[in-house]
Amino acid sequence: MNRIVIFASGSGSNAENIINYFKSSNDAIVSHVLSNNANAKVFDRCKRLNVPCTYFSKDEFLKEEGVLSFLKEKADYIVLAGFLWKIPSQIVSVFANKIINIHPALLPKYGGKGMYGMHVHKAVKENNEKETGITIHFVNEHYDEGAIIFQAQTPLSKEDSPEQIAQKVHALEYEHFPREIEKIIMER
Ligand code: GAR
Repeated sequence: MNRIVIFASGSGSNAENIINYFKSSNDAIVSHVLSNNANAKVFDRCKRLNVPCTYFSKDEFLKEEGVLSFLKEKADYIVLAGFLWKIPSQIVSVFANKIINIHPALLPKYGGKGMYGMHVHKAVKENNEKETGITIHFVNEHYDEGAIIFQAQTPLSKEDSPEQIAQKVHALEYEHFPREIEKIIMER
């Protein structure tokens, strides 16, 4: 059984969707959720879903014997679902091509530091984009620059607010993210 550890910083609706998707799988399970935000809503979701969720500090994230030693023992794959810190290079090198991120736009557009959540959707709106979408990619040392695994698009109308854009993007995330994670695990 492949163990997926999810990193989440906020609401965790993708984390919940992925947890539920793999509940019926014989190949993979979400064994743990880690969060850098002690007040994140993802803790409530995990409690309800009966999945352990643990807080970690920046210090624990950066030192060798902190989050990395936990992952070495407990994770086969790492999924970033609304996680806002850059992954340290010592974690990237141990889990090369095993860390999967979702970005709420069509990279390379609207990526990089500071481009997350509603910031992305507001920028898409300001630029009058005719479409947006999601990008699922492997994680390297740079924000949003790892190899792209999958993209999906959704059309936008002039009237769409940033909140409506976020809804369209979330719908794509819920549909595709668990399936793409499963494909990667099954291909190995
Ligand atoms: C998702 O839309 C995800 O793509 C985005 O944060 C949201 C988290 O929602 N991630 C980023 O912006 C990373 N740069 P959720 O907490 O409800 O899953």
